[in-house]
Amino acid sequence: MGKIILTGDRPTGRLHLGHYVGSLKRRVELQNSGEFEKIFIMIADAQALTDNADNPEKIRQNIIEVALDYLSCGLDPEKVTIFIQSQVPELCELAFYYMNLVTVQRLQRNPTVKSEIQMRGFSEGDDDSQQARKGIPVGFFTYPISQASDITAFRATTVPVGDDQAPMIEQTREIVHKFNAVYGETLVTPQMLLPENQACCRLPGTDGKAKMSKSLGNCIYLSDTSKEIKKKVNSMFTDPGHLQITDPGKVEGNVVFTYLDAFCEPSHFAKFLPDYANLEEMKEHYRRGGLGDGTCKKFLYNIMEDTLQPIRERRSKYEQNIPLVYEILRKGSEVARVEAAKTLADVRKAMKIDYFDDAELIAEHTLKYKK
Ligand code: TRP
Repeated sequence: MGKIILTGDRPTGRLHLGHYVGSLKRRVELQNSGEFEKIFIMIADAQALTDNADNPEKIRQNIIEVALDYLSCGLDPEKVTIFIQSQVPELCELAFYYMNLVTVQRLQRNPTVKSEIQMRGFSEGDDDSQQARKGIPVGFFTYPISQASDITAFRATTVPVGDDQAPMIEQTREIVHKFNAVYGETLVTPQMLLPENQACCRLPGTDGKAKMSKSLGNCIYLSDTSKEIKKKVNSMFTDPGHLQITDPGKVEGNVVFTYLDAFCEPSHFAKFLPDYANLEEMKEHYRRGGLGDGTCKKFLYNIMEDTLQPIRERRSKYEQNIPLVYEILRKGSEVARVEAAKTLADVRKAMKIDYFDDAELIAEHTLKYKK
């Protein structure tokens, strides 16, 4: 059996460089590797609604943004199926059956859910604050189960995600094992595929905070203009101790160098900064003193532009043909539905709830009541 990929994103905003280095770039490489029989990329609107129940318009607006970001990075609808989660109702049905295989205690132990409950202010604390009273929506609490159905409905062998998703994949694997043990071998056990370059796993924000995040306002978006990129690179956090050019500088925790680690290729030096042969040489000079932040930022800006220019161009072409983008999503969702329906048929059969196709059951009951 060939290898199958499923992965996706919640449509809560435009995608940024953190997404690009952490997943999008990799997806395009995987798409072009020819190693996979099928690739499904899902816009997880239903999952996004689990903690945005009061803001459906946000999700509705961002589906197209995420789709445009996908296409502009080079995901090719001829090679991958891009679809919208809510348009595949089979996923809900599957999740409903999986719910019987997972305990409340197990869900409470899921580290990603735990930290998200904190972050969203869902925790039901003892105090009387607004946030403490909000409580945890059941749909949100159970989204790891829904994610297991996303993955297994497409018989995914491979799930390329960031390390924050590890608990989700682990939970999925448990559900698969439980299901197969109870109902017989039916589901495929997925494997998680982490990004190769650890520097890429988690790109910090432009302010040096651990993660790029919309709420912190420290993102560089794939759809940013050259002007916006220049401004953001120029305002990047560097080494606060590096006051004069001649002062020795630190590259650890220096966002400009972290980004260079993630984006810089040897060819960029010949092209934009021929004074150095590679990043090591450049870092050495910075540490020693004598290399100014301005030069480093200009170099980073040039590299960013080199990376983002083709993405921006592709985006603007698709922006001029929005009906086509929706058509891609509609067709993708149809293909995804057919795939998921096949798995659902297997699941119903394994669970023996395919009553009308179960000749044995009808025969058994015929015999039981025959006079
Ligand atoms: N939870 C993922 C995120 O936060 C999105 C997602 C939903 C997903 N279903 C998935 C990722 C299935 C991989 C596989 O971005």
